[in-house]
Parts: sequence; C-alpha cells; structure tokens
Amino acid sequence: MRTVNDPLEFFACTEEFRSAGDRVGLVPTMGALHQGHFGLVEAAKRLCDRVCVSIFVNPLQFNNPADFDRYPRDFDADAAALEAMGVAAIFVPGVEDIHPAPINMRVATSGIVDRQEGAHRPGHFDGVATVVSKLFISVGKSKVFFGEKDYQQTRVIADLIREFHFPVEMVVVPTVREADGLALSSRNRLLTRAARDAAPAMYAAFQAGRANAVQGSATAPVLASMRRLIEDRAAQTGAALAIDYLEAASGEDLRSLERFEAETRFFVAASYDGVRLIDNVAVFEK
Ligand code: PAF
Repeated sequence: MRTVNDPLEFFACTEEFRSAGDRVGLVPTMGALHQGHFGLVEAAKRLCDRVCVSIFVNPLQFNNPADFDRYPRDFDADAAALEAMGVAAIFVPGVEDIHPAPINMRVATSGIVDRQEGAHRPGHFDGVATVVSKLFISVGKSKVFFGEKDYQQTRVIADLIREFHFPVEMVVVPTVREADGLALSSRNRLLTRAARDAAPAMYAAFQAGRANAVQGSATAPVLASMRRLIEDRAAQTGAALAIDYLEAASGEDLRSLERFEAETRFFVAASYDGVRLIDNVAVFEK
C-alpha cells in the first residue's frame, strides 16, 4: 500500500493506476475508521480495481474549533486496517498540503445547504464542498464512495459533481449500524457510558415513527412521540441531551414536511453529553 501526502503526487499515483487499465475508486474519510468506512472500502473493491482512501480531518468544515481539536484521530490503526483490506494507496495530506495559507478560495454552496446540518453549522458545507473538490481534482477520473448516514452531504456532493463537471461517479452506500441500531460514526468513540446507552433511542424513534407514518397524514404528532422516546431514554440514562433537529423532510430537496410523502425521510441531530450525532432513514419501504 502506498502512502502519499502531496496532492499532485496522489494524482500521479492514480494516473499510473489508470494507465495500467485499472478502475480507480476513492473513499474520502476523516480517519478514526470503523465498520461504516470499511463497508465503503468493500463497496469500492467490488466496483474498482485500485481502491484509494483519503484521511484528512478538514478544518474548513468545523464551525467549532474545539470540535475540530477533539475529533478522534488514530492514523496507525487506520493504516494497518486499510493495508489488511488490500487498499492500493492512502492519501494523507497535512493541512498545508490541502489548504496552503493564505486561504483565498473556497466553494460557496447554496440551496439545500440552508436546511438541517447547514442551518446548524454555518459554513460547514462550504468547507465540505471545498475539500471534496480538492480531493476530486487530486484523484481524477474515478468512482467515489460516500455513506448515506451523511445524507445531506451526499446531496451537496451530487450537486458539486454535476455543476463542476468532475469526472467522478458517486456511489452512496447504506448506513452501517450497531446491533442496537446506533449508526456507526467516528464520534461514537467519544460517547460517555450514559450517552452510549441513550443514543440508540434515535433509531428506535425512527422505527416507531415508521410504524406510525401514513402517506398524506400529518407529521407533527408522529415527530412529537418520537421526540418523547428520545428524551425519555436520555432521562433514564442521565445523559445530557440537546436535540438540534428532528424532522420529517423530503428526501429530494430536504424541505421540512407537514404531511408524509412517498420520499419522506426522518432526520435527527442530537448532542449526548456534548457529542453531536446525526442520523436519517427513509420512512417508507421502496
Ligand atoms: O464525511 C466525511 O468524512 C467528510 O465530510 C469528508 C467527505 C471526508 C470531507 O472532509
């Protein structure tokens, strides 16, 4: 497995793979890898000949510097796991490699970024779109793999690819969950015991909401009982809970919905003992 730090060297590396006739895949990550990331790598291995993984904790997408500082990092374990999975190259730039100072350029997003994560994390999606553009330029023609847990991010990146004509094809991979339903996230390793016990209530609430949702009926009473379920569980465990949003929204344009439609998804963002988690599911089976 090659380890590359420089963006142009990474491009040369993927060009070498392509000129040998190999299909290149990229899994962009911020490290602290878990089974969700490994699922992305497995999906990439099925569709590509040479799988590359980028590991870069992007300061531009953290609106809170303390959150950036405490974001988990575990490079040695990540590299060992990726090597064991047969990854061809890891791209591990430093902050200056990706964002050389002074930073005078960044991608300005609009549209669906006004909702959910974008509404609660000002500048977050500009930071994501900026770094992802740089990663796409560095990897060149390829398939790129993203997790459905960050559903809004996948929609922003779909727009980015379409509007900037990047020669990449995005593959969205379903969320991987713990046995109790908690979506895998690098941030889960920061959870206190009480928070870890309380957080699966988000998925339990999704399941309860799915059972009560009927197309055409009002979303508010369903969401109210989902919220109670999440709050009651946190109260039982003693975890401090702050719900940023719990919404039924369109899976297409992420607009909040008063009545359930066929493409409705539930979206949640909540902090448990100060650790912010997000999740989402489709309400109705396809
Ligand atoms: O989803 C993530 O891990 C990050 O937002 C990404 C896409 C790697 C950009 O920093």
